[in-house]
Amino acid sequence: MRILFLTHSFNSLAQRLYLELTARGHEVSVEFDISDAVTLEAVALYRPDLIIAPFLKRAIPEAIWRKQVCLIVHPGIKGDRGPSALDWAILNGESEWGVTVLQAAAEMDAGDIWAEARFAMRAASKSSLYRNEVTEAAVAAVLEAVTKFESGDFVPEPLDYSRPDIRGQWHPIMRQEDRAIAWRQDDTAAVLRKIRSADGFPGVLDEVLGLPCYLYDAHPAEGLRGTPGEVIAHNNGAICRATTNGAVWIGHLKEKRDGELAFKLPAAMVLGDRLASVPEVADLPPPFDKGGLGGISQPPPSSATNQIPPNPPLSKGGIASSWRDIRYEEKNSIGFLHFDFYNGAMGTQQCERLLHAYLAATRRDTRVIVLAGGADFWSNGIHLNLIEAADSPADASWANINAINDLARAIIETDNQVTLSALCGNAGAGGAFLALAADRVVAREGVVLNPHYKAMGNLYGSEYWTYLLPRRVGAERAAEITENRLPVGARQADKIGLIGDCFAGDAAAFWRQVEEFAGGLATDAPDLLAEKRQRRGHDEAQKPLADYRAEELANMKRNFYGFDPSYHVARYNFVHKVPHSRTPRHLALHRKVGKKPVS
Ligand code: COA
Repeated sequence: MRILFLTHSFNSLAQRLYLELTARGHEVSVEFDISDAVTLEAVALYRPDLIIAPFLKRAIPEAIWRKQVCLIVHPGIKGDRGPSALDWAILNGESEWGVTVLQAAAEMDAGDIWAEARFAMRAASKSSLYRNEVTEAAVAAVLEAVTKFESGDFVPEPLDYSRPDIRGQWHPIMRQEDRAIAWRQDDTAAVLRKIRSADGFPGVLDEVLGLPCYLYDAHPAEGLRGTPGEVIAHNNGAICRATTNGAVWIGHLKEKRDGELAFKLPAAMVLGDRLASVPEVADLPPPFDKGGLGGISQPPPSSATNQIPPNPPLSKGGIASSWRDIRYEEKNSIGFLHFDFYNGAMGTQQCERLLHAYLAATRRDTRVIVLAGGADFWSNGIHLNLIEAADSPADASWANINAINDLARAIIETDNQVTLSALCGNAGAGGAFLALAADRVVAREGVVLNPHYKAMGNLYGSEYWTYLLPRRVGAERAAEITENRLPVGARQADKIGLIGDCFAGDAAAFWRQVEEFAGGLATDAPDLLAEKRQRRGHDEAQKPLADYRAEELANMKRNFYGFDPSYHVARYNFVHKVPHSRTPRHLALHRKVGKKPVS
């Protein structure tokens, strides 16, 4: 079928559905929701068999849904209606939730029901649930609805609240008052629920040390207490605030500035001098004063801009005494290095801290190092928000790309352990290429990779991609992948050799399979490492890694400092979430040159 996506943006869910549908032989064209006129034009140009709205913030024009079936993906159970579906599900502490595919109609979310898929709720942020459970359920429900549509004789179920299986209801848009934190009354669970219900958007509006701002990226802080609401510690850019029965870490803030654009940044950066009298976590009593993992000491001081305080020592045994972004654990001579950076963005200091932890892990008596990334993203490359906030974004970009390159090089050159990138979450741009630096790469089946840079203002990219990509997929396909700017699903990535394997199932099933896979690598480690040393010697003699880096960075220098400001403009638009003014041509098949509207 010819399927048209009407969507606010080509977000992770739209990308995943695009991959699933095209893999099943459908042709998918995409139109962003710019205006009703543009949407009408897209439908006239493409004449789709079916319209799907994976992520739409406005109603589809009546002239369209009156004439043909438009399927809306709604992140709620049957009968649930309204624009804050997941927000309410989290705030109300639902134990089970779902995704419904319903037909566009006059009333919002009240159209006939084509399919529903359920999932168990998890204590996580709205965006984490969206990127995982919601996405998996949406894939199942959309595929079911598409099959029903293709059958030609399916009659969707009208929304009838008298039916026992319709348990949802109408919920209004959630306001800040609905999730405002009452610090003197709310316990840790309530605070977490409120912040998570608004993370990544819009955040919970609050005041921190006198500054009105939105809160994001909250985690329980074990072992810390204080007067409820008080900021009692900070560490690595995150602040710790006491609740009535404990404390929470808050990683990111967005300042509330009337009429001025603000964006999310590490909390300590936003608060600046206001934190002067707040102790760093290292000053606090146990458990934070515990010794670190053997061999891992504090990272060296950084020369980079955007200073945020260093990490405390990594905890032995992996389960940190409290939440932290980088942690290490060992199981059966396999080291697992987790780096759970908010939104997968890796600033200069995060890269330096991770390199430091990585090098310490290479000095351990292990056979395999698993680069585990984070729960939601493996990595999305350099930290565009920190760069945008810097006095010189060009200098900050330069520092950041060099820091991530240093990490990539250390991984490529490791020859004491076999390295394995295990992608449970998505990876994009430099983050996708960083994953390829490891000897082996495996991914969860639902993972979406965006191994290209061009969408960010024609950025050339580095992370040794010119060495890593053609080596895996050949020069021709490498050019195709980087030029096409399309997402690549894990299954497809496996098929074309971009990665080595992909594992079905949820996160828990994925990690079980990763452990097994890493166990196999551990057994074969001596042979694999001998092979690697030989291959690296050969590659280095052909063309040293330093040359790849120098060539890539010469291009990046032009992106950062040259006369063409495209990268700076694209980054500004990305960070400030400037709405799209048109759909990129490579996604809008119907806008290919020569296409005429059909009346
Ligand atoms: N730096 C800072 N923030 C980033 C980021 C980066 N490199 N990559 C993603 N984010 C943020 C987004 O701004 C968004 O923030 P929000 O929580 O305020 O909404 C969040 O991560 C999720 O990103 P989103 O674009 O909504 O996710 P997605 O899964 O739909 O798309 C990507 C994933 C990777 C395609 C997209 O985020 C992207 O293009 N990122 C930029 C990658 C890049 O160019 N990196 C620099 C070159 S190495």
